[in-house]
Amino acid sequence: MDRSAAAPGALEGSDIGSQKDRVVTEEEWLQKWEMGNIGFHKEQGHPLVDMGHSVVGVEVSEQALREFFAEHSLPYHEEPVPEISGAKKFQSTSGNVSLYCCSIYDLSSSIVGKFDGVWDRGALVAVNPCDRERYVSLMITLMEKNSSYLLVTVSYDPNKHKGPPFYVPESEIKSLFGNHCEIKCLQKVDDFSDRHRQWGLDYFLEVLYVLKFVA
Ligand SMILES: C[S@@+](CC[C@H](N)C(=O)[O-])C[C@H]1O[C@@H](n2cnc3c(N)ncnc32)[C@H](O)[C@@H]1O
Repeated sequence: MDRSAAAPGALEGSDIGSQKDRVVTEEEWLQKWEMGNIGFHKEQGHPLVDMGHSVVGVEVSEQALREFFAEHSLPYHEEPVPEISGAKKFQSTSGNVSLYCCSIYDLSSSIVGKFDGVWDRGALVAVNPCDRERYVSLMITLMEKNSSYLLVTVSYDPNKHKGPPFYVPESEIKSLFGNHCEIKCLQKVDDFSDRHRQWGLDYFLEVLYVLKFVA
């Protein structure tokens, strides 16, 4: 299959339809993990993790974090995060993978520092549409100048599936990040599968952007 071909009839507009008001609570995300309703989860880790970088992540589900370390056979320890009530930090024994168990909105650069690169897959597209500006404002405070942000979004007809993942049009990427970043769309990949057909869709694309932080 040619994975770089865009599906015919792909929606390029800026209308996110009824998804505008859709809200998925943290409790619902925890239930998805408990029920194993995690079709977004990939068995193979992204190769970036194997390239010697120090990686910091955040996830509201403790189950997801424990499964991550188990799946990768990584020994780890856990400790409370004094600045955030109820939060925990899970850190690989080697020290280069630190995963915070809390809401991303509780993090700040004074807790996690600033980053040279961000890998955003399943993150912006999982953020409730009403919280996108809050999320992007936070991410911008976590980025070093000249850092790069690899962003994967999805494109499909939002009138046929309520999300998540949510459809984020290119026009919205520009309005969210455009004042701070140069934005380049690198690739649109046909990722349509039976799962998407069951959602009632007839096309599903993954769209990869690289954002360069200039200010
Ligand atoms: C679509 S999944 C993607 C997970 C992962 N990034 C991936 O690519 O497989 C979105 C994840 O965000 C987590 N999540 C939802 N709201 C969150 C929040 N406020 N803070 C941190 N994680 C959150 C959910 O538990 C879920 O695991």
